[in-house]
Amino acid sequence: MSPHAIFDRLLQSLVAQLPSDQHVLITLRFQKQAPVLIDKLRTLYGNKFDNEAGFIDWLEKMLRVTGRLIVDRPLALRALDVQRSGSREWFSSQDTLGYCAYVDRFAGDLRGVTARIPHLKKLGVTYLHLLPFLKARQGDNDGGFAVADFDAIEPKLGTMEDLQELTAQLRSSGISLCSDFILNHVADDHPWASAAKRGDPVYRDYFYHYPDRTQPEIFEASLGQVFPQVAPGNFSFVPEMRQWVWTTFYPYQWDLNYTNPAVFADMATALLQLANRGVEVFRLDSTAFLWKREASNCMNQPEAHWILQALRCIVDIAAPGVLLKAEAIVPTAELPAYLGSQDHTVKECHLAYHSSLMAASWVALAEQDTDLLRAVIQATPVLPEQASWLTYVRCHDDIGWNVLRPEASSGTQDVQQRLSYVSRFFAGEEASFARGASFQASDPDAVHGTVGMASALAGLVSASTSLEQEYALRRILLLYGLTLCFGGMPLIYMGDEFAQLNDDDYRLQAGHEYDSRWLHRPLWNTELEMTAHDVSTIAGTMFRSLSHLLQQRRSLPQLAAHQSRRLLTGVPPEVLAFARGADDEALLYMANFSDQTITLDLVSCVTQAGLKTEHCLWRNQLDQSVHGDTLNLLPWSQVWLARATDTLHKKTQDIDTQTLSPDNAGKPEQCSTTNGVIA
Ligand code: GLC
Repeated sequence: MSPHAIFDRLLQSLVAQLPSDQHVLITLRFQKQAPVLIDKLRTLYGNKFDNEAGFIDWLEKMLRVTGRLIVDRPLALRALDVQRSGSREWFSSQDTLGYCAYVDRFAGDLRGVTARIPHLKKLGVTYLHLLPFLKARQGDNDGGFAVADFDAIEPKLGTMEDLQELTAQLRSSGISLCSDFILNHVADDHPWASAAKRGDPVYRDYFYHYPDRTQPEIFEASLGQVFPQVAPGNFSFVPEMRQWVWTTFYPYQWDLNYTNPAVFADMATALLQLANRGVEVFRLDSTAFLWKREASNCMNQPEAHWILQALRCIVDIAAPGVLLKAEAIVPTAELPAYLGSQDHTVKECHLAYHSSLMAASWVALAEQDTDLLRAVIQATPVLPEQASWLTYVRCHDDIGWNVLRPEASSGTQDVQQRLSYVSRFFAGEEASFARGASFQASDPDAVHGTVGMASALAGLVSASTSLEQEYALRRILLLYGLTLCFGGMPLIYMGDEFAQLNDDDYRLQAGHEYDSRWLHRPLWNTELEMTAHDVSTIAGTMFRSLSHLLQQRRSLPQLAAHQSRRLLTGVPPEVLAFARGADDEALLYMANFSDQTITLDLVSCVTQAGLKTEHCLWRNQLDQSVHGDTLNLLPWSQVWLARATDTLHKKTQDIDTQTLSPDNAGKPEQCSTTNGVIA
């Protein structure tokens, strides 16, 4: 069959059920996506059929289902598709802000989330990531990451109607709902797994299964481990099947076999169904693991990317207003591929977590040195046009240090020693302000991960004086400032807006006690919320200070994701500095990751950034102080400098970041609280 004939047949299957007024639009979209879609799926699955005709039949069937889902797509969502297509502004401007929470910990259930919308609006949130809320496995379920049904809500959290109602309410408040889409695995009580256990050969093929340890051992030789302590190994014996099943994560999370075209088709359908319920962003969980290959770590395989690219084509045909966000916790060099290519020829996800940036920012606090952080930034390429980073300080997972191995090994220090020092530092085992814990590491020299709320890791638990408390808050704000200025969509992790502490009681909760990530998954704290307006409290100071940063960011177009970024390397190692945006409008982010005041020669910084030096007065957007030739950066403090165009302002050379408010008079020299706002 000629390519032309194939195209026509497939198009007919797609549009067969559509009302005629949708034909032109969908035909145009299909024309655009078909070459890549067919090519990727043929490369992945062509050899699974007896001949080309068999492959085309399968594709036709899948597109018929896609066509039905286009028919089902509610009008309001179709309108969003049209409004958003081709525009990146809606998710990459300086106005976008994410917030992440577990439904039950945040608000009890989906209906309860509606009541929290005013809080989200107060912060300026435009994107809400609710951690898994689909029907989960009975019993242990990894916080919902073991899905038993992609088309049902976890009964404790509500119903599908509640979800639809919530998405509509959020939309009318300018907030897009992001849902996890756990596409690497399903729960062992998902109907596919249950059928496989009963011996159904069709569903056995949905999973990787082996009669004995021979093949698993071959794979294990090059595989890593996600939960080495509580779920060692990557295969679990399933007595009902008398087979070893691939389980990268917990034994009850069965990896899907993406070499089977039926798995791809069913998962694409599941995603579009959820999109039709009003989900606007999908966090594609554990994307790096989708394809397995002997003698590799089975991560970031080319086929995993082709699967995502084919999925993107289907989304761009049926629901182009929807975003795909990659959760791939992998070294910096592996990250860009998840966003597609620079030249647009390859499109993959719209967003990707920048986990190296996050981890390196914590390392900089521990080492009081920004060397590693700079290396990560230097290794981060310019964003493709239709994509953005997801920048964050904390999330529901541990901070994994191993993603930093490539950058950490470039210096003279031994990588293992360097990262295990960081890991011990945040567990509070070194002379450290941090009070987190090590994740899944019995060996003190093993570098795995760190758990704990940002406040605990930044020193709020150990702080015994008001100065130490202020330093802890400054450290949290320093990292949040970086996520706001770096260029991407920043994400607030629930509780951080109030500097909420660890939940030490997690050990008392059945099913949580063996997974220390629950240390940083606390319940929403109404008392903290009540004190949010009171700057004499820590929660109030944090809330006000963070809100201040958020507000400033919204007013600074230089901070939109696609504005340029230039790292300034000629500053002392304790300082991270970069310029955002074009020359006249440039914004300088400068942050002191140390407990000493650092004096910077602003003129040389500016010259080095390639910016014009005449009329060189800079105003810190965070407190409106104006700076000339030098700048004193207080311990753990940051400035966001833009050219001071207001000539009435006197040059206040050597002014530091603490001085401007009369409220500050009489405060100890190191305190920078101005009207309860710490910059
Ligand atoms: C992702 C999630 C994590 C979960 C794992 C298995 O990494 O973020 O919480 O345990 O996938 O689904």
